[in-house]
Amino acid sequence: MAISDLHISYEENREIVRGLRPETPDDWLIVAGDVAETVADVRWALGLLAERFAKVVWVPGNHELWTMKDDPVQARGVARYEALVALCRELGVVSPEDEYPVWTGEGGPVRITPLFLGYDYTWYAPGTSTKEESLAYAHNTGVVCTDEYYLHHDPYPSRDDWCRARVAETERRLLGCDQSVPFLFVNHYPLVREPTRVLHYPEFAQWCGTELTADWHTRFNTAGMIYGHLHIPRITHHDGVKFQEVSLGYPREWRRHGHPHGVLRRILPTPSRV
Ligand SMILES: [Fe+2]
Ligand SMILES: [Fe+2]
Repeated sequence: MAISDLHISYEENREIVRGLRPETPDDWLIVAGDVAETVADVRWALGLLAERFAKVVWVPGNHELWTMKDDPVQARGVARYEALVALCRELGVVSPEDEYPVWTGEGGPVRITPLFLGYDYTWYAPGTSTKEESLAYAHNTGVVCTDEYYLHHDPYPSRDDWCRARVAETERRLLGCDQSVPFLFVNHYPLVREPTRVLHYPEFAQWCGTELTADWHTRFNTAGMIYGHLHIPRITHHDGVKFQEVSLGYPREWRRHGHPHGVLRRILPTPSRV
């Protein structure tokens, strides 16, 4: 099963998380980022889910990586990510720093591959072709991601430097895996830009991924891709590979349409109608 963007600082969303249960005792749960902003809230949600599901696999969203004034954990950047990874280890939750677990149940074998890659501002705003132009465009329209103020990149010089380092290291790890078992990629952001084309503000795409992963779903033996962040739950296909946006989203978003796809999405075995 999969879900993302729990955003449990909203009480209505916390209530939904309280109600999340597996359908069978063997179900694994993918949590594709944006659980909460404080480490205590992340602990509450992942701890509860880890008690209920046979295995929980988490990747960080941008919100977990924010350092907010009211969080007693003031770690920034890489140190904050490492604190979250340590929390996962304590709770028995799989993070991108662990060995990628292979699902051998129905629909397997599939290598569940949690990724932490970030973004590098290469999904430029309309009519721009550099990071500087793209950011200037966003500052002009006023559509600037809050990451610019709360998602710190220490000790890297920039968020894009951190992203490039993560991509290079991840690529090395993927190449070291047995390529005969297909990867099910899990990342807070889609590996390709196409799903961002429907964004109401196209300039927001620069905070949603990187060109560096544009060919991963064709280069590697890929069973599918699970992501969130856009708060636009849907399924798309790119070069024949199924990409699923599995976000819950903010109450103001899900109140409008309810949960037409269900709150938890079944990924494997593949539901027969999609
Ligand atoms: Fe989100
Ligand atoms: Fe996000």
